[in-house]
Amino acid sequence: PIQKPIKHYLQFSDLTLDEYEYVIERARIIKRKFKNYEIYHPMIDRTLVMVFDKNSTRTRLSFEAGMHQLGGAAIYLNTRDSQLGRGEPVEDAGQVMSRMCDIIMVRTFGQDIIERFAANSRVPVINGLTNEHHPCQVFADIFTYIEHRGSITGKTVAWVGDANNMLYSWLQAAEVFGFHVNVSTPHGYEMDMSLVSTDRFTLFANPADACEGAHLVNTDVWTSMGYEEENAARLKAFDGWIVDSAKMARAAPDALFMHCLPAHRGEEVSADVIDGPQSVVWDEAENRLHIQKALIEYLLLGRI
Ligand code: CP
Ligand code: NVA
Repeated sequence: PIQKPIKHYLQFSDLTLDEYEYVIERARIIKRKFKNYEIYHPMIDRTLVMVFDKNSTRTRLSFEAGMHQLGGAAIYLNTRDSQLGRGEPVEDAGQVMSRMCDIIMVRTFGQDIIERFAANSRVPVINGLTNEHHPCQVFADIFTYIEHRGSITGKTVAWVGDANNMLYSWLQAAEVFGFHVNVSTPHGYEMDMSLVSTDRFTLFANPADACEGAHLVNTDVWTSMGYEEENAARLKAFDGWIVDSAKMARAAPDALFMHCLPAHRGEEVSADVIDGPQSVVWDEAENRLHIQKALIEYLLLGRI
């Protein structure tokens, strides 16, 4: 039976540690089934609708392939050729879409948009990235960390770069999982403290200092989707914020490097780091598939 009341996944803090531990265990099992070519079809006759207001490679592919692998169907809609692009209210879209499908993923601009959509939806809504949050990516990243190094609780994660959706989701994850984030953002691109509800972080003026002793070094594009007109100014302001081998040398000897991708070698990360032995970027990308399949299963079927 489908879970009632419905549960959305709009930001990382929407699930408890206990729920994360359950879904991660399911992701392990679902991943193993996939690797073994074992058919697992709990979503027969169920449909996922994916609404994209921004570009995507990984998010679209992982949700679409994932729903297919679970025995269901996935439908891709974008702003350009749906009525959303011609001004149909997001509230109306939530009402209509949720009467025709079982679960919805939305990638859009402001978090308020996905919240208004979800408030009008009869089915679970998953955040596939907003300006403020990217919870599915950080969920996959935590799963990736655990696979490589075991528990992340008590560890130190360095964030070197823009105060963006990824950082805000990492900070929420720090509160849920109990780890610390060393944050270094360039002058003028600091965190919006109204989006931060944890004290599990330390600010560093020097990005290399933020990496000192870190178990995981994390960065992301300097210009996120929707901020393209700031690109030239950002390139100047972020000078010195590249994650290179000198910064990785400050981290713990067995530190991992993560980047949610897409990456820009020579800007936020050097080629030798992202293509080097500490980098787990391909595992992060792959784990989007397994984590989101487990998340869909959990949001629709609960604990099975
Ligand atoms: N990391 C991530 O969400 O990638 P896409 O923008 O390609 O979906
Ligand atoms: N911070 C980036 C992540 C891309 C997956 C963006 O929002 O564009």
